[in-house]
Amino acid sequence: MKAQILDGKKVAEEVRAAIKKEVDEIKSKGGHIPGLAVVLVGENPASKVYVGQKEKKCKEVGFNSFLHKLPVSTTEGELLKLIETLNNDKAVDGILVQLPLPQQIDSDKVLKTIDPSKDVDGFHPMNMGYLVTGLPAVHPCTPKGIMYLLDAYGIEIEGKHAVVVGRSNIVGKPIAHLLLDRNATVTICHSRTKDLGAITRQADIIVAAVGRPRMITGSMVKEGAVVVDVGINRLEEGLVGDVDFKTVGDVASWITPVPGGVGPLTIAMLLKNTLEAGRKSER
Ligand code: GUN
Repeated sequence: MKAQILDGKKVAEEVRAAIKKEVDEIKSKGGHIPGLAVVLVGENPASKVYVGQKEKKCKEVGFNSFLHKLPVSTTEGELLKLIETLNNDKAVDGILVQLPLPQQIDSDKVLKTIDPSKDVDGFHPMNMGYLVTGLPAVHPCTPKGIMYLLDAYGIEIEGKHAVVVGRSNIVGKPIAHLLLDRNATVTICHSRTKDLGAITRQADIIVAAVGRPRMITGSMVKEGAVVVDVGINRLEEGLVGDVDFKTVGDVASWITPVPGGVGPLTIAMLLKNTLEAGRKSER
């Protein structure tokens, strides 16, 4: 093992401690306590775990947490009605609808209904548009967390060749734009990319967000590259990333572990986005 660890768990703890301190100050002055509404529809086991973690961390920093658990049979109309109610609720600063949603519900329609100023996931097309044009916006939590982690370790981005593997709206597309905004040269690869290894071997920074266990192996990585693993694959042996930690760890200069890398930062950035939304609602 040659690579040093980008310790997301530690960095996220520091972020949460700073947020808690700020919330304590708000409380001591009798100010508005940030509130996050989390909506979970159905029984997806992974979603239940994520939502549970979000609620726990929310309470730990002193936010108000409002959990709405709806049955899998919920109609699109019922969910849209709940979102309208949350949009108009002054105690709610952030609204997060956990994805994926059951098939009878159009996710795009739901995300578009969330008030963009309460869109702490940064998934509303308006916030996405702002992000792409480089205007101030709520940034999606995982890409924001990746940038925060790279900055926390002083990883240089300007002029570097960043290769993003994966083109999802949640991670691949937004992280490519955030890296571009910081003057990286960015290549986006995906499932139809030919000879992926030939491209990843050119990368100074690799962001793997494809959802395929240990897909990026040591032979696909240049000596000294920085490797960020966004994958959370649940196998019988436990949680596994998209990066083969053992072989890539021998060639990379920095690597994120799974778990304890990007994951904790995602939740920390959700709290940060909620705190920021709360501050705006106070003004
Ligand atoms: N499902 C998987 N990741 C996410 C996320 O970051 N936000 C929401 N709302 N749903 C998700």
